[in-house]
Amino acid sequence: MSHTTNPSLEKIVALAKRRGFVFPTSEIYGGLANSYDYGPVGSSLLKNIRDAWWHTFINKRHDMVGLDSAIMLHPQTWVASGHVASFSDPLVEDIKSHKRYRADHLIEAWIEKNPTAVDDSFNVEDLTVEAMGTFISEHKVTSPEGNPVTDPKAFNLLFESAIGSVSGDKSTIYLRGETAQGIFSDFKNVLDSTRVKLPFGVGQMGKSFRNEITTGQFVFRTLEFEQAEIEYFFNPNVENGGSDWQKLMNDWKEAMWQFVATDLGITTDKLRWRRHTDTERSHYSLDTYDLDYEFPFGFKELWGVAYRTDYDLKQHQEHSKQKLQYTDSHTGETFVPHVIEPALGLNRAFLMVLCDAYREDTENNRVVLELKPDLAPYHVAVFPLLKNKPELVAKAEQIRDQLTNSRSKWRVAYDDRGNIGKRYLSQDEIGTPFCITIDFDTLENDEVTIRNRTTTQQEKVSVDQIEKYLVEHCS
Ligand code: GAP
Repeated sequence: MSHTTNPSLEKIVALAKRRGFVFPTSEIYGGLANSYDYGPVGSSLLKNIRDAWWHTFINKRHDMVGLDSAIMLHPQTWVASGHVASFSDPLVEDIKSHKRYRADHLIEAWIEKNPTAVDDSFNVEDLTVEAMGTFISEHKVTSPEGNPVTDPKAFNLLFESAIGSVSGDKSTIYLRGETAQGIFSDFKNVLDSTRVKLPFGVGQMGKSFRNEITTGQFVFRTLEFEQAEIEYFFNPNVENGGSDWQKLMNDWKEAMWQFVATDLGITTDKLRWRRHTDTERSHYSLDTYDLDYEFPFGFKELWGVAYRTDYDLKQHQEHSKQKLQYTDSHTGETFVPHVIEPALGLNRAFLMVLCDAYREDTENNRVVLELKPDLAPYHVAVFPLLKNKPELVAKAEQIRDQLTNSRSKWRVAYDDRGNIGKRYLSQDEIGTPFCITIDFDTLENDEVTIRNRTTTQQEKVSVDQIEKYLVEHCS
């Protein structure tokens, strides 16, 4: 099959809309910048990515437990974590259009056009907000419309709302900016209610919210997004039987890479590690690496892993006046555990999976998503050859129901529209690995035709062997 493995973002966006992966949100009202809805097949793909993460990191590991904390936490949480004071991006405004941009992004765009103006070691992430202001004025960096911009200022990304039913009786509440803080504030409850022993991790998935300034990279950067985060707690005192943080960091980097390469089936040529510079690193971290994927708009962060030390638990201990400590039952040592934090953006994983699976098969004039069967919205599609033949329809419905009701919980699409060729094309674009056609032979000898998405080869399989076939071919 001839194919392109580097689709443009436009092609991905068009496919996503055409087949029901992703829609612009509130489209009937003209949309809302940086917000998207996951359609019938997109929500399935996203769920399958979530399930893969949960299975690998929570179910399969005996040193991990799960959690599902609230989106709205006590507002002190965000004061303690440092987000109220310093969770910000450098914002500038076009002085004519009043459109807002991220100063670092305008500088990056300027450098792309003027690559010789700075040396190779230059990294915009190293600049403070003030240094960005100086760079912008010295180099006369403009907005994309070509207008001058204001001096950058720190723009807090936390979304604020208010609780309180009586007017004037409102108190500020934040939508969580990361799922991590729910893990820290539940640390004591997890310890008291389970049998966990250090080192252990707590993982959770769920929506986070950030008042992002940037627009235009599809689901890569959105106002609300899903994170899958782990706080892996450990004793840093190696001499007292604790763990070496650098070794733990390396083990987590390996586990993250394996998940992306194996569970998500991503081309490893398009992955790379990037270490954060001192200026770029978050206020809570002693060392951070990003696992970057080569998206259509370049290498960008998919998944971060940070050594957050005991920063968060200590901050919460101080603000809540509750002890957030662990006592080692062997040594009697009592201390605040440290953490390594692998933090994945599920929507970025979704976009990566779509981009990586996209193929153009010019020989057969089709677009195919080469998704891993476990991730594909449907494992299999069932087609009656003709929809006006009740015997074929009845048999096709029977096979569909047998598969959906099986213990293996097959995800099954059913299609009786148009001709078979068109049905194949639409399943190829959704990434369905197998299509089963029920024709007159099926009625005579109980055999169906199974067509393989990748090879387009077809084979006859008897009805009672369909599940066995799928088990063998979906792994
Ligand atoms: N608890 C650490 C933390 O939140 P982060 O690097 O800010 O770290 C973790 O976020 C991951 O969440 C990122 O690697 C990215 O995949 C995802 N993410 C962050 N902001 C996002 C946004 N606005 N839209 C989509 N995904 C986002």
